[in-house]
Amino acid sequence: MKVLVIGGGGREHALVWALKRSSSVNEIVAAPGNGGISRIARCVPVDVNSLEAMVNLVAIEAPDLTVVGPEVPLALGLVDELEKRGLRVFGPTKAAAQLESSKSFSKTFMQRHGIPTAEYALCTNLDEVRESLLRFPLPVVVKASGLAAGKGVVICETRLEAESTAAQMFSGALLGSTETEIVLEEFLTGEEVSFFALCDGKHAVPIAAAQDHKRVGEGDTGPNTGGMGAYSTDGLLTPAMRQWITHNVAQKVVDGMASEGSPFKGILFIGLMMSPRGPMVLEFNTRWGDPETEAIVLRLETDILDLFNASIDGNANELAIRLKPGASATVIAASGGYPGKYASGLPISGLDGDDRDGVIVFHAGTALKDGQAVTAGGRVLAVSAESDDLEDALKRIYRRLEEISFEGMQYRRDIGHRALSR
Ligand code: AMP
Ligand code: GLY
Repeated sequence: MKVLVIGGGGREHALVWALKRSSSVNEIVAAPGNGGISRIARCVPVDVNSLEAMVNLVAIEAPDLTVVGPEVPLALGLVDELEKRGLRVFGPTKAAAQLESSKSFSKTFMQRHGIPTAEYALCTNLDEVRESLLRFPLPVVVKASGLAAGKGVVICETRLEAESTAAQMFSGALLGSTETEIVLEEFLTGEEVSFFALCDGKHAVPIAAAQDHKRVGEGDTGPNTGGMGAYSTDGLLTPAMRQWITHNVAQKVVDGMASEGSPFKGILFIGLMMSPRGPMVLEFNTRWGDPETEAIVLRLETDILDLFNASIDGNANELAIRLKPGASATVIAASGGYPGKYASGLPISGLDGDDRDGVIVFHAGTALKDGQAVTAGGRVLAVSAESDDLEDALKRIYRRLEEISFEGMQYRRDIGHRALSR
């Protein structure tokens, strides 16, 4: 069968890599893909911000299945458009994707369905912000309601700072686009865990837990990024906690969305804070995480196509999702200056024989120029490995990273530090 994967980051390289291993898949097209994906699949250009362009591409390529990677096409309603045409597509509809695309929707949804999350206030103007701020202790978290690629959350130490952050979100000065709704949130402490569940509109089936590293600098310092590395181990959650989250968060989401007339299909990515009051949902994403996916696919023993089909066909409850015991990790090699301004088009050396010593180099932001891989994004490579234990996986990843270079390359040397010090 022929599969079309929408997107062009490290997550999509990992999804294409996993699909390549499926015995039922004989053709993979990625749109737009990237330099690394083009070595294992045909890449075709598409603007993932244009619903029309993506729908036209699907009509031309006529895949048996379309897999949507990033959040923007989901929020635009790509799944709805393809379903309307009777096509098979993996991912949630626009209404279901609101769990990610609108924090105001997801916070009120959690409240309606008794899903544990931080106290919050929804504000549509600065007067409401000023008044609501008085109810929150400091620090307080200020969030843009819409999609903001990881830049829409600011932890504020003073009410003045919170007010001015909100003002900049409303005016568009902070994120480039104006926000009509802002969420003020109680600041939570604890360890963050990402939990991934496969959903089919009726059932939520756990896949894996992972831990991301959002800050650019070692020791979790500096500005937030899309994620500088991630790992997945069995030990991240106890079996009891995994079951608790599946029942009290993932299945509640699926039941709640179904009862509200927007059944949730696809990946539910739950961002959790393991707070002293118990697990609290920080956010939902309605797609695979990046870079969590680069680590998780290395442990996935079940054919990934079975996951996609079960989600579409509504029988995920019959699927036993098997992961290799042990651990996997991924470390992002990013452009100098990321998450701020960075240069593109810089040649990358040391990629020859991309995958060896059990280490797989997924490409996140690369392009091929006359056969030479060059940088083409903030996050450039996701160097990944799987092993019986995390320390070994990381050792091999860092050894491989020493062979790779491009001007300004930066990466964190402490990915997995929390797990290693436990
Ligand atoms: P979000 O996009 O909502 O997951 O927020 C991005 C990051 O901001 C999270 O991964 C946390 O590190 C931090 N964050 C968000 N909400 C809170 C909160 N209520 N308390 C503490 N940290 C938070
Ligand atoms: N790694 C966080 C995300 O995919 O949003």
